[in-house]
Amino acid sequence: MPAMPAGRNKSGTTSLTRAPAWRALAAHRKTWQDRHLRGLFAADPQRFARFSAEACGLLLDYSKTLVTAETLELLLALARERDLQTRIADLLAGKRVNSTEKRAAWHSALRAGPAAPREVRRTLESMRSFAGALRAGAVKGASGRPVTDVVSLGIGGSALGPALVAETCAVEGGPRVHFVTTPGEALTRTLAPLEEQTTLFIIQSKSFSTQETLLNARAARAWLQAGLGAADHGPHFAAVTAQAVAAQAFGVPQDRIFPMWDWVGGRYSLWSAVGLPAMIAMGSEGFDDLLAGAAAMDAHFAEAPPERNLPVLMALTGLWHADFFGMDSRAVIPYAPGLALLPAWLQQLEMESLGKSVNRRGKPLRHDSGPVLWGGAGTEGQHAYFQMLHQGTRPVPVDFIACRRPRAGTDGDTHAVMLANCFAQSALLMQGVTAAETEQALLRQGMPAREAARLAPHQALPGNRPSSTLLLDALTPHSLGALLALYEHRTFVQSAIWDINAFDQWGVEHGKRLADSVLPEFTSAAPATAHDTSTNGLVNYVKTKKP
Ligand code: F6P
Repeated sequence: MPAMPAGRNKSGTTSLTRAPAWRALAAHRKTWQDRHLRGLFAADPQRFARFSAEACGLLLDYSKTLVTAETLELLLALARERDLQTRIADLLAGKRVNSTEKRAAWHSALRAGPAAPREVRRTLESMRSFAGALRAGAVKGASGRPVTDVVSLGIGGSALGPALVAETCAVEGGPRVHFVTTPGEALTRTLAPLEEQTTLFIIQSKSFSTQETLLNARAARAWLQAGLGAADHGPHFAAVTAQAVAAQAFGVPQDRIFPMWDWVGGRYSLWSAVGLPAMIAMGSEGFDDLLAGAAAMDAHFAEAPPERNLPVLMALTGLWHADFFGMDSRAVIPYAPGLALLPAWLQQLEMESLGKSVNRRGKPLRHDSGPVLWGGAGTEGQHAYFQMLHQGTRPVPVDFIACRRPRAGTDGDTHAVMLANCFAQSALLMQGVTAAETEQALLRQGMPAREAARLAPHQALPGNRPSSTLLLDALTPHSLGALLALYEHRTFVQSAIWDINAFDQWGVEHGKRLADSVLPEFTSAAPATAHDTSTNGLVNYVKTKKP
């Protein structure tokens, strides 16, 4: 057995922080003490051209991230050292990359078109005919009246993706599509204006065991039973699940159950039948365009050299900021009206994938993994948290997302205002405004010198705050597909470098089980004693507090 190079462990892979490429990056980090992006732009008029790349109708400008050519070379060396190309090939080939559940994570197969597995093509076909029939008013309720409202009941990956796509790509015609995630009043509010006879529910649950979704499904069934009387409520249900038997037992007609497979992770499932509510809202042609956009990004991811590969570049610059600059959160800020739900979808994608503290062999990580992901619509954010982005003590890397051309409903002038604000914010985060520049500006406004000197430190912006800008040519189903697949692959690349499993989420299970043990406490006669004193105290407070 050849002697293992320094830092390699039994399985031959180097613990990351002792890997030569990681050490080289750590050494390079020290050279960033006094660097400021403003200086890098001043020194290199070609910086934008050098640090931007294009693919699938998207332009990625990463010139405002904390990289030089040397940084990029060192990051690419890390990717090579972590055998990234092989990991990418394994993912796209449907290998069992989900090491703890011993499954593939083959969401790319869902958008492989004619090359997709047969069950995928067959399911897409049945989705198209069902969505087409619904949009044509050919799907009738028990009373024979056409369905006018579709209510999708699901949570997490069974809701965030289809809701985002429907919000972005819905077209005129067809039934109204509603998404309900949390149980209780959200469903009541949604159903209030609807009629039982013309409402269809789609129960979206890979496991068909998620408490919130089943609570809503039962409430929906009770609502139908109350409104339809003895009439069969089967025609008012469909389901998307990997547990067909459970769906049938619930009362969903067999021909209305659309399959999911265990090799599709919930947060990667919008391309599967989980996308059905979105297909109903946008039509099957639009959905096919969405799949085609994602497939184009899969091909780019598989074929483009790392230095021109958008997911790889976004992942490596993100890792550099998170692990070497300690930037423990990242904001995603779309300046495109249709993308308001993107941050929520990304939160699950990235935080459920990268929120891990052990590597694939179960060894504790010696470095940070995924940062906190947050964000919201750009223009609104400017009047809410941008103050902190510009002047807070914690630099937050930002992904700005915008479109070159407006969509219907936004006139050219308004669109230009949005773009101007988007570009201005990223420029300012990079450049900053020094106290001296601020003071000069205040003096030019005629402010007395003492007052200008007093206010300047309060108004100065440090700058040197990294951001990337993703510019879509226009927001279409195709470009949305490419954008979402880009972020899926960005997430995978980081998991491959960190050697963590991006496709399991064991951390969410304990809470569900504990909730199941707390629930009966509210109705039992005896005071709660089984938990810690805080939990017991809260339960007993709820039980004993007189109204
Ligand atoms: O609890 C987390 C989770 O399992 C997510 O991973 C998933 O997307 C969501 O719940 C919904 O799960 P299901 O589709 O099985 O109802």
